[in-house]
Amino acid sequence: MSEERYLTFALCKGRLAKQTLELFEKVGITCEEINDPKTRKLIFVNDELKFRFFLAKGPDVPTYVEYGAADIGIVGKDVIMEEHRKIYEALDLGFGKCRMCVCGPASAGELLKGQERIRVATKYPDIAKEYFYDQKNQTVEIIKLNGSIELAPIVGLSEVIVDIVETGSTLRENGLVVLEEVCPLSARVVVNPVSMRMENERITKLLQELSACVNG
Ligand code: PRP
Repeated sequence: MSEERYLTFALCKGRLAKQTLELFEKVGITCEEINDPKTRKLIFVNDELKFRFFLAKGPDVPTYVEYGAADIGIVGKDVIMEEHRKIYEALDLGFGKCRMCVCGPASAGELLKGQERIRVATKYPDIAKEYFYDQKNQTVEIIKLNGSIELAPIVGLSEVIVDIVETGSTLRENGLVVLEEVCPLSARVVVNPVSMRMENERITKLLQELSACVNG
């Protein structure tokens, strides 16, 4: 039998990384070095399992997986929906749960009922466009921002925002409310379609182990 090749994992930097590594530990996938906050290394290896890992910015994870530079990625459903990459969404990990919502001051609720050409600020222009144009049939002006989206309606850049709501405290502390829910979100495992065929046995086993762990 030919020697197994390394399977490469692209993990999302930030909020999801910690929970992803905790889940991996539970199914026996360990990687000491990746937990070292001082390290500047980019690639981490588990030679025993023939796995290697790297951390990437969320929106880059589906890109690495589509091109096969990573076989497997762990990333939020929000990023999957926004990026439209040719990847196979294999498993809902059930953590990182939050909601994509239309938010704004309570008074902006009226503007969502009719055909007002309002401004919508968001980090997710495609999700916002699909929601307003395809689901609500409302023509709006979408303004792309890169963070602190809640600022937009406060300083008068837009009437509403489309953004992630987790605990709701950012909204509360800034006098904003959820006006409409676009969809629920959570962390997902995505797989390169060619890897899924070529490494089917190993990847299926891994998905089963992860699924058993998250679904009890
Ligand atoms: C996200 C999101 C909201 C906040 C929601 O921002 O864009 O601002 O978290 O969380 P909450 O409902 O628990 O308050 P993030 O912290 O990722 O940073 P960003 O504003 O730079 O996008």
